[in-house]
Amino acid sequence: MTSEGSEGLRRLFYPERIAVIGASATPGKIGHTLLSNVIDSGFKGDIHPINPKKGEIRGLTVLGSVLDCHEGPDIALIAVPQPFVRGVIEECGQAGVGVAVIITSGFAEVGLVQEEAELVEIARRYGMRILGPNVFGIYSAPAGVNATFGPLNVIPGNIAVISQSGALGISMMGKTVTEGIGLSAIASIGNRSDIDEVDLLEFLRDDPSTEIIFLYLEGSKRGRRLFEVAREVVKKKPILVVKSGSSARGAKAAASHTGTLAGADRIFDAAFEQAGVQRITEMEDAFNLLRTFSTQPLPSPGGTVIVTNGGGIGVIATDACERHDVPLLEDPEYLEGVFRETMPAYGSTVNPIDITGQGGEDSYEMAITKALNEDRIGGVIGLHCQSGTVDPKLLGDILLKLAKDGRGKKPMTFALIGGREVEDILDMFYEEGLPAFGDPEDAVSSIAALYRRYRDLSRPRTDLEEQDFDTTEIRRIISAARQDGRVQLLETEAKQILAELGLEVVPTRLVRTAEEAVRAANEIGYPVVAKIVSPEIIHKTDVGGVRLNLEDERELREAYTSIMHQARKMHPRAWIAGISISKMIHGGTEVILGSTTDATFGPVIMFGLGGIFVEVLKDVSFRLAPVTWNEASEMIRSIRTAPMLFGARGEKVKDLRTLTESIYLLGRLVDEVTEIAELDINPLRVMDMGEGCMVLDARITLKGPSSGGHHNTEVNV
Ligand code: ACO
Repeated sequence: MTSEGSEGLRRLFYPERIAVIGASATPGKIGHTLLSNVIDSGFKGDIHPINPKKGEIRGLTVLGSVLDCHEGPDIALIAVPQPFVRGVIEECGQAGVGVAVIITSGFAEVGLVQEEAELVEIARRYGMRILGPNVFGIYSAPAGVNATFGPLNVIPGNIAVISQSGALGISMMGKTVTEGIGLSAIASIGNRSDIDEVDLLEFLRDDPSTEIIFLYLEGSKRGRRLFEVAREVVKKKPILVVKSGSSARGAKAAASHTGTLAGADRIFDAAFEQAGVQRITEMEDAFNLLRTFSTQPLPSPGGTVIVTNGGGIGVIATDACERHDVPLLEDPEYLEGVFRETMPAYGSTVNPIDITGQGGEDSYEMAITKALNEDRIGGVIGLHCQSGTVDPKLLGDILLKLAKDGRGKKPMTFALIGGREVEDILDMFYEEGLPAFGDPEDAVSSIAALYRRYRDLSRPRTDLEEQDFDTTEIRRIISAARQDGRVQLLETEAKQILAELGLEVVPTRLVRTAEEAVRAANEIGYPVVAKIVSPEIIHKTDVGGVRLNLEDERELREAYTSIMHQARKMHPRAWIAGISISKMIHGGTEVILGSTTDATFGPVIMFGLGGIFVEVLKDVSFRLAPVTWNEASEMIRSIRTAPMLFGARGEKVKDLRTLTESIYLLGRLVDEVTEIAELDINPLRVMDMGEGCMVLDARITLKGPSSGGHHNTEVNV
């Protein structure tokens, strides 16, 4: 962000002078609520209501125009009807307003894109920023101001909320109050004509009042920048995101397998994961996590203990821990030593620590206090099933005291199940904004989010290796194809590019006669594979265009004639470049590597196991390109079928090092050679450890007028 840009945002979050343009004396009007909220939130700076009718509203003198302010307001809240906004913006610019917060709706969201762009043009002339249009305003705890037309009483705290949806943002303001969650700021970004989520993230990274950032997004106009900025911000502060809605990707017919699998939502998922942003699907979970993140520290390396008075609920939580990757402390001897005295003789010290139905308030107190004080214990999950042996009021007081005393020591979440009295305990926790839930799943998933962040922060973050990478020859192959008027490269061209990249490619020759085929096979050595090569025939097997394992000249000649015959019969008008002859390779495990161009994030790469794993199970991982070695290795490990490469069922371990390098190189290729729209290496054969990987087939589609326009959506063979 430029220093002018960040100065604008500083004025937005830390205003000293606020103008309300369209301030109205009529209760119920937005211009009235805005002014009232600014006044009633106790804002200590100057407040200027603006309305041509002048007079007085709520004891403040109304100015006829923003130009009448002595000094340029930091924020001008604009709530005048749409046709007047343009004139008001011009005046705001002249008056030296820092940020025009345009509440008014009826611009780009209803198709008036040009009208909205004009507002930004005017603002730029004056060095003014715009938040909106179509926003509900901004709340800033450190500035002591609620400049929204939402609920007035927001609890000050450490969470900043950025919301693309107005209605949802306003409802969050209300719900955070009932959930006892404190906010440092809440900003509505609406149509994002100028200030967007990326600007706000950049500002909030260094905002001392904000420790956690929550983002509600439906899409991003600057996906790549969002990714880059988020990746930096999470090093300092956690970002939680709820992303809904479909993206602008549109109905693009993908020419590659990778393109077909790369749904917009999957790419968002991958980008958030890669950046270290935690994505949440349900709003309810978002509140749970916000409550947890805003009050609990990250776990220390030791495992978590579960303290419970019920076996069943303990098992439910244990299962949830396994699903959510919450490590449980497993050291029976140690746990016996620590917890035995907290329970009756028949209690269990094998995590979950079961103080039994007999265990009263004092057992809970003793067990949880011990868990808090033991260095080896990384986190605590307290579970309670209502029981006649416990006084709920007393238990509530004790648990709340433990939760408050334990704050900052180690993360602690609770789940309590029972009737009215138990719900009263939950309410006590809500009021304090502390994480106690009515379901063990929530207690576990909340602590799991802290573990995820802990792991993210401790994950080695290597930079992109600065390895020299010459693309001259690759670009020459691409421009030769373009001169032919093609965006679909021939198999042999695609393989040449990958060989230039440094991947090992199966020896392949393009031939145009049976004689040439025989010569090529003699050079390469039998057995060979013969495949039709035509940019217009994508489904090669469907037309009998692929013949494997040809053992000798006789078989090869027969295959050559048959492939040509079939291709001409089924695609009489297709241009046939020839037939490719390549070495038949046995052994190894087939994987697919690919890339596609995402409308929001740009080049992305994909990895998965070949065959049914990718086609049926869609067991693939995506990352934005380029990737570091670590990210490439995470891509491999993150698919469900990865163990197939690690030596499953007596197989030898595969050459993971070369595979990682291949993914890394592919990321570099599509990041640097931006003309590549889509690419499939399918299959890449991963040999046993130390024996490398080999590209057996590849397809590349270039960007261009007809890129992606082919009717195919299936996998290359
Ligand atoms: N300068 C200053 N004041 C002006 C000007 C001007 N150039 N022109 C008009 N006004 C005054 C009017 O006189 C009026 O004041 P009054 O009550 O004293 O007469 C005031 O501005 C408002 O004008 P109205 O014509 O009464 O308009 P109204 O208040 O009905 O609507 C509004 C204006 C709220 C901006 C409306 O056009 C609008 O866009 N509503 C949608 C807002 C919205 O939902 N935004 C998205 C939020 S996020 C979410 O989805 C929840």
